[in-house]
Amino acid sequence: MTVYSGSMDNAAEKSIFKRFVVLEGIDGAGTTTQLGRLRDALTRAGMPHWPTCEPTSRPEGALIRRILGGELPAHPGTVAHLFAADRHEHLYGAGGIVEHLAAGDIVISDRYVLSSLAYQGATCGFELPMKLNGDFPLPGLTLFFDVDPSLSMARLASRSHLEIYEKQSFQEKVADCYEEALETLARAGAEAIRIDASLSPAEVTAQVFRAVGKSLRIDLRP
Ligand code: TYD
Repeated sequence: MTVYSGSMDNAAEKSIFKRFVVLEGIDGAGTTTQLGRLRDALTRAGMPHWPTCEPTSRPEGALIRRILGGELPAHPGTVAHLFAADRHEHLYGAGGIVEHLAAGDIVISDRYVLSSLAYQGATCGFELPMKLNGDFPLPGLTLFFDVDPSLSMARLASRSHLEIYEKQSFQEKVADCYEEALETLARAGAEAIRIDASLSPAEVTAQVFRAVGKSLRIDLRP
């Protein structure tokens, strides 16, 4: 995994990606809830920020959602390519991650490259998602929401419709692939912090605020 070098010089680019924070974890780990709380805390602290997620709400992401919902069938390799295409547009498209970081925003994203290594790693093997995602810039901080698949699946039990990946046996495989992906991230020198996501939402929020506050040198309060 390398650090992308585009139009900006490498040092400038590396420095803006320090303000890119990603929340990761298996389905039902609570990243979406915590992203909302982080967004609210950054607003209260008066810090310019942009909350976002993958799959995105762009056309590429909308197509992925139809596949995940079971409406459209697709080969796992095709899905891996679609996630990478959605990510490319999310990063470099108008109004995307690079534009926001360059404007001085803190960008907080629910999922990014690690999700592809874990989920598409589980469906296609590690090689394809590594090849498709290896050149994307890495976040300054990744928070990995660590939770047992039996607990995360119990949290999703009240949903009326589950997506194609939301089965415990698959989530167990994804959890193993996340561990491998975290090792890859560590080898690339990117910071990742493990959050105990089995705790109450308030306790998880406290861990998230501590980690993000320390990394960005800001004081985040509940
Ligand atoms: P999720 O983020 O959990 O959103 P929601 O709660 O709205 O369903 O769902 C996105 C799903 O997409 C989740 O199962 C993980 C999967 N995914 C991948 O398989 N690869 C990826 O690269 C990304 C970003 C997500």
